[in-house]
Amino acid sequence: MNDHGTVIWFTGVPASGKSTIASLVENKLRAGGLPVENLDADEIRANLSPNLGYTAQARDENTKRLAWMGQMLSKYGVNVIVAAVSPLRSHRDRARAWCARFVEVFVDCPTEVCQERDPKGLYARAASGEVNDIAGMHMPYEVPASPEVHSRTDQVDAEACAQMVIDKLVELTYIGS
Ligand SMILES: Nc1ncnc2c1ncn2[C@@H]1O[C@H](COP(=O)(O)OP(=O)(O)OP(=O)(O)O)[C@@H](O)[C@H]1O
Ligand SMILES: [Mg+2]
Repeated sequence: MNDHGTVIWFTGVPASGKSTIASLVENKLRAGGLPVENLDADEIRANLSPNLGYTAQARDENTKRLAWMGQMLSKYGVNVIVAAVSPLRSHRDRARAWCARFVEVFVDCPTEVCQERDPKGLYARAASGEVNDIAGMHMPYEVPASPEVHSRTDQVDAEACAQMVIDKLVELTYIGS
């Protein structure tokens, strides 16, 4: 049987830097000739479930779908990147339980810095009262207890954060050096 691919799961509050680092990791794996699929939550939501929303039940459903797609693809040797806020530990642990090789990346950034970055204008909409379901602000974001990688994106640039993920994959012998 083929070796499994790795599911690399980026979690963190909005604007912490998940999609940015995930794209860099995707490019690095592809440049190394490895099969990789990037399941960015925004893109998956837009294409598969545009009306899902962000209630507790919807977040449960969303992380379940991402984990399921991850385990399906990774069975065939594809490395799968998931970038999703995924605020609940139980949802991330479920994904871990389903995937033979799982690397959790905690994309960590103080809320004040995320609010300043605000690439999608989400925090601005929260400030005006238009949005009231941001994880880490209106609802809990449960910090990962023992992530394989901890990226402090207010202190370390995106390129170095991506390289830390690659280094961890090498250390775990999930990819060659
Ligand atoms: N070290 C860093 N790592 C990642 N992003 C960084 C870093 N430093 C600054 N940034 C900037 O922070 C912003 C992060 O946006 P990004 O879309 O990656 O966040 P996200 O976590 O995917 O948010 P969302 O949950 O809303 O999709 C980008 O504008 C990026 O350029
Ligand atoms: Mg994103």
